Amino acid sequence: MAVDILLGLQWGDEGKGKLVDVLAPQYQIVARFQGGPNAGHTIGFEGKKFVLHLIPSGIFQPEVQCLIGNGVVVDPISLQEEILMLESAGITVRNHLWVSVRASLIIPTQRLLDQANEQLLGVRKIGSTLRGIGPAYQDKIGRSGLRVGDVVLPDFQEKYQTLREHHLKRLDQIGFEYDLVQAEAGFEEAIAFLRTLPLTDNVYFLDKALHQGQKVLAEGAQGTLLDIDFGSYPFVTSSSTISAGACTGLGLPPSQIREVYGVFKAYCTRVGSGPFTTELLDETGEKLRVAGKEFGATTGRPRRCGWLDLPALKYAILLNGVNHLCMMKADVLSDFEEVNICTDYSTSTGITREVPYHTHASITPILKTLPGWGSLTGITEWHELPETFRNFIGFIEDYLELPITAVSIGPDRQQTLWRSPV
Ligand code: GDP
Ligand code: IMO
Ligand code: MG
Repeated sequence: MAVDILLGLQWGDEGKGKLVDVLAPQYQIVARFQGGPNAGHTIGFEGKKFVLHLIPSGIFQPEVQCLIGNGVVVDPISLQEEILMLESAGITVRNHLWVSVRASLIIPTQRLLDQANEQLLGVRKIGSTLRGIGPAYQDKIGRSGLRVGDVVLPDFQEKYQTLREHHLKRLDQIGFEYDLVQAEAGFEEAIAFLRTLPLTDNVYFLDKALHQGQKVLAEGAQGTLLDIDFGSYPFVTSSSTISAGACTGLGLPPSQIREVYGVFKAYCTRVGSGPFTTELLDETGEKLRVAGKEFGATTGRPRRCGWLDLPALKYAILLNGVNHLCMMKADVLSDFEEVNICTDYSTSTGITREVPYHTHASITPILKTLPGWGSLTGITEWHELPETFRNFIGFIEDYLELPITAVSIGPDRQQTLWRSPV
């Protein structure tokens, strides 16, 4: 067993990218297992900041092989842009990045369909990142999609045109206005670029590596509460964001999974539509947004902010089998004299700790108030953490019945504290 998983326990943007980058030196392979360029994973070190959408966050470690798994939907334009961006910053990419032949392709008309679908939904829109994620996964499940391995086959153009025509018909049916020339700009070139990358069958790639005793870190995108089955449907993304998704998204048997790192913020954020029980629509929410710089890494949209939701976190832990809890952005709450945590939900049928099926059910959070902890700046060891902060951690651990193994107190690699060496 040599595969560990790192994933988000909330609605995405928990700080997964930062933590994968921190842990990457301990692995030979870092592999993304789902999602696509809807993700925005931020990594900060030596005063530099990078946002990755498709490339695994292990790419800054030259010795680590990075794999884009079969569960991912790959937009070739986005992938090319990302590789060129990294290379222009002096990061070596091409000798340690692999793309699964089984990964799905996002084509330009799927991006247009994403926009058209959202327009059709009007006020009920999902709040998609408009990267073509939903339509690409729809085509995958509908068995009409294109895959990365198709780009080197002789009938690629034919298959592409068939799917494109099908999408154009659908766009016309919807009555969506679009600029096809603009949407398709750079696509052909990006497909040619993709053909130059090492494409691999990840099943054998990973099996071989595991037999050689290599260690793999599976990197999740989005978060558990955006999962297609277990999130607040339909306000979710279109993939399995939970730990089980790492098996299907990488072609790994469950028996290979060892540790599951669950990443959460000391508060909550959500981008896009959908229920958010602890959301703060007042100046406290605005204070959190400003202090946490809560603006989307992919779309720049302001993130909705609220207090930490423990029933939702417990739900995420049980779905994923988390055994390492990592709390991010604890420093963001430093300016708060008091901090709230939701412990229970008050619903029309009583008080509960279970996340209800019905997403429109009106729920009032029952909050516990704890004292704040002031500045965490400059702290480098766990034992230096202020007592009030350690009480906050203790309260969460007692509730979740799971220890917090890491605390992040800033965006930089070095601003990460481990309870004991990992
Ligand atoms: P991801 O999608 O889960 O990788 O997270 P994002 O990159 O979308 O959002 C996390 C944001 O918080 C990024 O801007 C990170 O640089 C930043 N960040 C990560 N950890 C910390 C932390 O402990 N403190 C602060 N202040 N910022 C953090
Ligand atoms: P990372 O990996 C936060 C949200 C969108 C929208 C819903 C569906 O950076 O944590 P989609 O484009 O997938 O059809 O959008 O999911 N969403 C994210 N929110 N972080 C992400 O990724 C997200 N990826 C998608 O805002 O509500
Ligand atoms: Mg993000």
